[in-house]
Amino acid sequence: MEPVKVLDSVYWVGALDFDVRDFHGYRTSAGSTYNAYLVMDEKITLIDTVKAPFASELLSRVAKIVDPKKIDQVVSNHAEMDHSSALPQVMDIIGREKPVYTSKVGEKTLKAQFRDTDLNYKVVGTGDTLSLGRTSLQFLETRMVHWPDSMFSFCPELGILYSQDAFGMHLASSRRFDDEVARNVWGYEALKYVANILTPYTTPIGKLLETVSSSGLLSKIKIICPDHGLIWRHNLGEIVGLYSRWINQKPTRKAVVVYDSMWKTTEKMAAHLADALSTENVLVKLMSLKANHRSDVATELYDAGAVLVGSPTINNEIYPSVADLLCYVRGLKYKNKVAGAFGSYGWSGEAPKLIQAALTEMKYQLPVPEFRFQWVPVESELEPLRQMAKAVAAALPQELVPADFNF
Ligand code: FEO
Repeated sequence: MEPVKVLDSVYWVGALDFDVRDFHGYRTSAGSTYNAYLVMDEKITLIDTVKAPFASELLSRVAKIVDPKKIDQVVSNHAEMDHSSALPQVMDIIGREKPVYTSKVGEKTLKAQFRDTDLNYKVVGTGDTLSLGRTSLQFLETRMVHWPDSMFSFCPELGILYSQDAFGMHLASSRRFDDEVARNVWGYEALKYVANILTPYTTPIGKLLETVSSSGLLSKIKIICPDHGLIWRHNLGEIVGLYSRWINQKPTRKAVVVYDSMWKTTEKMAAHLADALSTENVLVKLMSLKANHRSDVATELYDAGAVLVGSPTINNEIYPSVADLLCYVRGLKYKNKVAGAFGSYGWSGEAPKLIQAALTEMKYQLPVPEFRFQWVPVESELEPLRQMAKAVAAALPQELVPADFNF
């Protein structure tokens, strides 16, 4: 297992997980990486660790540079298990007495997660500096980006920002840098990561970007080393700019029609609705939940101004795949959406009403009541869906989706 040199004294020593396909219920179609970094200064410093099953991979990469026992200190920027569950195993090798620098909430979280582990935690917070010898780390707490414990570490001498989850993506590749991977690949994966992981935290992310910009820190950053995916050394300005745009969740003239179907009638309704939206000059993504994972729907939904959700009724309930999607999307707390509900049924027909109620609770704007149809409609009986499309289209802005990563 080879390390990758980031700069003369800084190495990537993380792990590649080509096989992972589920992360927080998010389908990681391209696998993931758990990034950790080794700084070879007077005090040899390890920044973050990896998921527990990959501890030996991390240690083997470190051993290509230096005996792991010579690591003097560890920084834990984020306590979530994908970056910390290898920590106890790593400390067993490098020495449990070595200091682990973390935020106040980080200490609490790490202790709660690794209850039998008495490590030498040292609490640091915003404004604190840790000397590594020739270089140093300045800490900035970034609560809720992604967890309450999260923090950034910035090395002013080298201009490296260790940003934990921020600016990350789930992408397993032997290529470690942004300029080695096509823009549409990193752009889509970064957007998917924001859409599925960071959306509930757009307010703290916005404040953080403002702080980083107004404090002058942004202009000093030459490299961003996140805890997942590619290291940013070429497209820093672009990824920070994209984050600034994405967190605004500005609606565009795009609609996602997402549905499941038992006997193809709700499918017929979804196709009719998609067609009607197209005639209103709305960019439409028609997504069957038999063919699309919830996390791919969420990614499409991110820059859409509207979502139309269709479900048959089964045993007085919403179809399970559609209920799953609603639960997932509710947690992501998307803003600025127009919505509609529809579905066919045989006997009782509760699902569209339940969907309408769920979307209302999410504070989506619903310009028309739900539309449901008993048994199988002929074309002329679908006129209410055309009216739904018109009402939704009228509530959308004229602005089209920027032509970048979502297609
Ligand atoms: Fe990659 Fe919030 O952990």
